[in-house]
Parts: sequence; C-alpha cells; structure tokens
Amino acid sequence: MIKSNKYFLNSLKKTNEETRAHLRKLLPQSNDIKITKAMNYAVLNGGKGLRAFLALETSTICGAPKFQALQAAAAIECIHCYSLVHDDLPAMDNDDLRRGKPTVHKRWDDATAILVGDALQSLAFEILSHDATNPDAGIQLNLIKSLALASGVHGMVGGQALDIEAETSSKKFTVEEIIKLQNLKTGALITWAAEVGARLTNQDLQPFTKYAASVGLAFQIQDDILDIIGDKKQAGKALRKDIRAGKATFVSLLGLDGAKIKAEQLISQAYEAVDELGDKANQLRELAKFVVNRAF
Ligand code: IPE
Ligand code: IPE
Ligand code: MG
Ligand code: MG
Ligand code: MG
Repeated sequence: MIKSNKYFLNSLKKTNEETRAHLRKLLPQSNDIKITKAMNYAVLNGGKGLRAFLALETSTICGAPKFQALQAAAAIECIHCYSLVHDDLPAMDNDDLRRGKPTVHKRWDDATAILVGDALQSLAFEILSHDATNPDAGIQLNLIKSLALASGVHGMVGGQALDIEAETSSKKFTVEEIIKLQNLKTGALITWAAEVGARLTNQDLQPFTKYAASVGLAFQIQDDILDIIGDKKQAGKALRKDIRAGKATFVSLLGLDGAKIKAEQLISQAYEAVDELGDKANQLRELAKFVVNRAF
C-alpha cells in the first residue's frame, strides 16, 4: 500500500482551514435564527475539505487567482455539505452522527435539515455568480451550468436516487451498474472540483476530468471499504450500515480484497491521467494516495 506523506496531510489541513474561513464570510452571519445557525453548523463543523483542495490545487496548477479558487471551493463545499445533510435524513440513510457530531436533523429537526440543504444549494450558485469568482460572464455561466449538471439528476441527485434503488429493490446490480451509480453519486462533484482550475482559466479540462474519474470512484470504494472495516470514532459516522441494508456496493460485489485491488488500480490510472502535467501535479498524486489510504 502506498502511504500518504505528512507534508500532504498538513497542506490538506491548511487548505481546509482557509476554505472554512472563507465560507464563514459567505454564510449568513446572523446566527440568531435556527436556519442560519444550522447552515453554519452543517458547513463549518468538520469535514476533510477534499473537494475544496481539488479546486484550489487545480487552480494553482492552471494559474487561476487564489480568491477565485476560494470562491469555487466554497461553492462546491456548500453543495457537498447540502448533499450530506439530506443524505443523513430519516427518509434517506437515517443517520444520527456526521463528522463526530449530531446530524443537522438530530440537532434541530427534519424541516430545518431540508431547508439547510435547499439554502446551501442556492448559496453555492449565488457565490459562483459574483464577479469576485470570475469577472468574465462566460466563465461564470460555465461554472454555474457545469455545477448544476454535476449536482442534479444527471449527477449527484441521480446517483443518490440509484443508490436508494440499490438498497430497496430486489434487482441484482452488476459491477458496471455500480460504477455508473458511484460516478454520479460521488464522482460528479469530485470531477467538478478537479475541473475548477481549468474552467476558471479556459484551459483543457481533459487531464483533470480523467484524473477525477478515477479518484472519485476510488474515493467511494474506500468509503464502502471503511463502512466494513473502519472505526466509527475515526470516521465520525455510523458504520456497518451498507451490509445491514443489503446494499450493493463494490465490496458486496468484489469482496474486500477485490475492492482494494480495484481502488489501487484506479489510483494508477489517476497518476497516468496527470502524467503530462509533470511535477506540477504532485499534490494531486498525493491526494489520490490519500483517498485510498484514509481512515476517515
Ligand atoms: C462523504 O464525503 C460522503 C461521500 C461522498 C462518500 P467526505 O468523506 O468527503 O465527507 P467530509 O466532507 O470529509 O465529511
Ligand atoms: C453519500 O454517500 C453520497 C452523497 C451524499 C452524495 P454515503 O451515504 O455512502 O455517504 P456516508 O457514508 O453517509 O458519508
Ligand atoms: Mg447515502
Ligand atoms: Mg449516508
Ligand atoms: Mg457510505
């Protein structure tokens, strides 16, 4: 197994802190009503910030200004956090714990959690529409449209719908169908994050899209592996849920060892995808390693 290095873990932490500090300014400041308090809680209470890291790192590689990168990083984290708040609801995964703390609907109530998700989704698009994200209206529109596609029924929401089907129907899912499901559910937002640098600077998306296709799938495989062998305290969420729900995942189809091998293969493919970028992509390579080594 390829190990993650300390330098990378420090820069992931630092980038995450920078993004959360930026988000703190973009979120509603008045913490006196339930919904705004809950929005701040959903976004600022933990999280690894992987998608933000991808947005910031690819912006560095492509030469996009830091402030623009932070705006895009904030937008993708808003969408991601909204997806988690809704994913945890009783009507979906019914989880009480997220990032080591009570889920939004547990801390408040279901209606608040639904509205927090809705409001974070709107906030993401509002952030992208600011001149501070990019002064070029064409680039703003490109970011907005591509994030809308990645979040909606042709992206994350479509994947979540298939995921529920994988849990509730008696239909047997094939590996190909699980790949499609995971690409939508998890891959689409990770891909958007990795394309941020190229989208902000009007450059070729291809190496980033290819890299993210592999990393996104490997990320979800590791999530499924952790559901079986992970430590609840480290993961900060309830585990052993997929098996109990009889959910079709990579692990249920390929076995634990098969899933690990598949994840490692995907990381090699991610390396190949960014080969042409040379040393500039070293942090992306480190992130790919982290994705399959992580315990949280
Ligand atoms: C968890 O995502 C949900 C999945 C897509 C599997 P992360 O593991 O990136 O969640 P945080 O933001 O770090 O809590
Ligand atoms: C969640 O997948 C994916 C999205 C929120 C889009 P999971 O349901 O596997 O994530 P965890 O395990 O609750 O973090
Ligand atoms: Mg789920
Ligand atoms: Mg879940
Ligand atoms: Mg999971």
